[in-house]
Amino acid sequence: MVTKTEYIPAGSIVKLTLKEGEREVSRVTYILVHNKKGPHVLIEDVWTDPSERGKGYASLLIKEAIRKACNDGAYKITLTCSPSLVSFYEKYGFRARSVCTGSTSVSMRADCADICTERICDTLCKNN
Ligand SMILES: CC(C)(COP(=O)(O)OP(=O)(O)OC[C@H]1O[C@@H](n2cnc3c(N)ncnc32)[C@H](O)[C@@H]1OP(=O)(O)O)[C@@H](O)C(=O)NCCC(=O)NCCS
Repeated sequence: MVTKTEYIPAGSIVKLTLKEGEREVSRVTYILVHNKKGPHVLIEDVWTDPSERGKGYASLLIKEAIRKACNDGAYKITLTCSPSLVSFYEKYGFRARSVCTGSTSVSMRADCADICTERICDTLCKNN
């Protein structure tokens, strides 16, 4: 019988950010959670200042998040994005898990066992 609700720490959140002085130029929120299969990373709030887009900042932070996930021992990284950004994340090894007709969001997943041995993470992970 259920008797109480418990709040148990089960992960951590960090913001990876690029700044120019005090001004935030680009960011990625990195959430590490632990489930039965091990550490799992969620990527949220990927954003670059509109005046700074197209300069490779989001790319740099996504690669940094992948590097960190591999170093944290995560077995997968997941995120949700709009259909128009699927090709953006595919560049970094993410694959769409399911696209429902008419859906406004796409679930994407990268398996660390795959991307940590591929070109994307190869130099990044091995140098750290
Ligand atoms: C999506 C976003 C984060 C990209 O930021 P950015 O710093 O301009 O991205 P980068 O300069 O690192 O671009 C990396 C690559 O992705 C491509 N790209 C950027 N935005 C894209 C988009 N909307 N759709 C498809 N490809 C895109 C770039 O052309 C570049 O390709 P290249 O390496 O072949 O030149 C930025 O446009 C943004 O903040 N959008 C609004 C918020 C948002 O939609 N966030 C995503 C939530 S899941």
